[in-house]
Amino acid sequence: MTFAERLKQAMKDRGFKQVDLVRAAADTNLKLGKSHVSQYVAGKTIPREPVMVFLAKTLKCDLDWLRDGIEVKTATSPSPEMKKESERIPMNGRRIFKKSSKLDNVLYDVRGPVLDEANRMEAEGKQILKLNIGNPAPFGFRTPDEVVHDMSVQLTETEGYSNSKGLFSARKAIMQYSQIKGLPNVTVDDIYTGNGVSELIQLSLNALLDEGDEVLIPSPDYPLWTACVNLAGGTAVHYVCDEQSDWYPDLEDMRKKISDKTKAIVIINPNNPTGALYPTEILEKIVELAREFQLMIFSDEIYDRLVMDGLSHTSIASLAPDLFCVTFSGLSKSHMIAGYRIGWMVLSGNKNLAKDYIAGLNMLSNMRLCSNVPAQSVVQTALWGHQSVNDYLVPGGRIYEQREFIYNALQDIPGISVVKPKAAFYIFPKIDTKMYNITDDEQFALDLLHEKKILITRGGGFNWDQPDHFRIVYLPRIEVLEEAMGKMKDFFQYYKQL
Ligand SMILES: Cc1ncc(COP(=O)(O)O)c(C=O)c1O
Repeated sequence: MTFAERLKQAMKDRGFKQVDLVRAAADTNLKLGKSHVSQYVAGKTIPREPVMVFLAKTLKCDLDWLRDGIEVKTATSPSPEMKKESERIPMNGRRIFKKSSKLDNVLYDVRGPVLDEANRMEAEGKQILKLNIGNPAPFGFRTPDEVVHDMSVQLTETEGYSNSKGLFSARKAIMQYSQIKGLPNVTVDDIYTGNGVSELIQLSLNALLDEGDEVLIPSPDYPLWTACVNLAGGTAVHYVCDEQSDWYPDLEDMRKKISDKTKAIVIINPNNPTGALYPTEILEKIVELAREFQLMIFSDEIYDRLVMDGLSHTSIASLAPDLFCVTFSGLSKSHMIAGYRIGWMVLSGNKNLAKDYIAGLNMLSNMRLCSNVPAQSVVQTALWGHQSVNDYLVPGGRIYEQREFIYNALQDIPGISVVKPKAAFYIFPKIDTKMYNITDDEQFALDLLHEKKILITRGGGFNWDQPDHFRIVYLPRIEVLEEAMGKMKDFFQYYKQL
């Protein structure tokens, strides 16, 4: 039995969910986050000795049994120096290399153990219905011809490094786009291109956070945000998005989670994984909170051009000219070029508040030299002119029709309820866990994979602390969704978690 198996066994025996352990630890002032517990359960890491002792005590199991075979090095958690030292001690004459302790708090389950298992099954020749990853190209969403053409004619001109923030033409186009979205006080200098929004999320948090600084992050979230806050040495504090209110941020919860260590609020609008689009009134209230507590706002708007039902997207920065905001977007989703790697961030509002931070951003931006230059060369083409993505988002268009299908099909399954997404291409259904006796969402995802060969992402992968949600990416064509939903309906007819 591995440590993870023993832990799961002990939790099951005592009727403990992951969240119960987190709460029990908080009661004893032990720092134990959701991501820690989920990593232990997934077998990705093993706990430090004090946590091991806490787990054995709380789960009323024998400490020696729980840590069977795990070497106890010290009574306290090893410092990075000690960890380095232990690396130098040869094991059977061989030096072993451990990942850095900075990664102990980092979780990125969208590409986690369930995907590993799916890959293993595929390698055995099994066909998996993949509803797990927001990558449009493999599902037949082709890059607009004009974008491919314009990149190819500029290839020979984009062989060298560009300015570290990006080509002037790309940044000018992004600046004009920002003006149209109403972002205040934006010049070309306030725009940084990146190898996708992903690179800029990491860069912007590394430039900001010191040990102990807190950042408010939505739950559920796009997990890169939580991972990058923790990797940068900060603490991700999750505020709840309320399913009963179309998954809008719960403003009261947000307020409650603000402490004197909070530096910034992150919003993801439109949202991954819920598909929510926030109305102006909610955004205004978030701005009021940020104003009251002098917080920076990070707004991830990568899906801002994928909005349905005649609704329109408002950038929160347009409502906050007196605050300092960083707005993120890119072409991965709207132009189906996730593989080309191009995203950007825009600084706006009162930049005087952030002079030193901006110097930090510039330093990190210079250190990575620049982002992929051929991809920058198509920003102007992509942002202006005919937006072919719009055709997908209206009745008769693929994204719209696939959303209608998946929404109706999910509602047809007993014990599943779901809020209709308004944007992006994700849906985040709720499972009646009592009906199916579900206590472990990773086990649910694995069972669905093994029994029906359907790959979804468990809610816990989005820092959602109950085992009662999962995310479907509805990019596959309706025929594929139809097959998947038929199988899923059948699965829920007999499934009960043991
Ligand atoms: C909310 C959100 N932000 C950022 C990203 C990363 O996008 P990029 O391809 O620009 O790195 C994703 C990708 O799925 C996302 O869903």
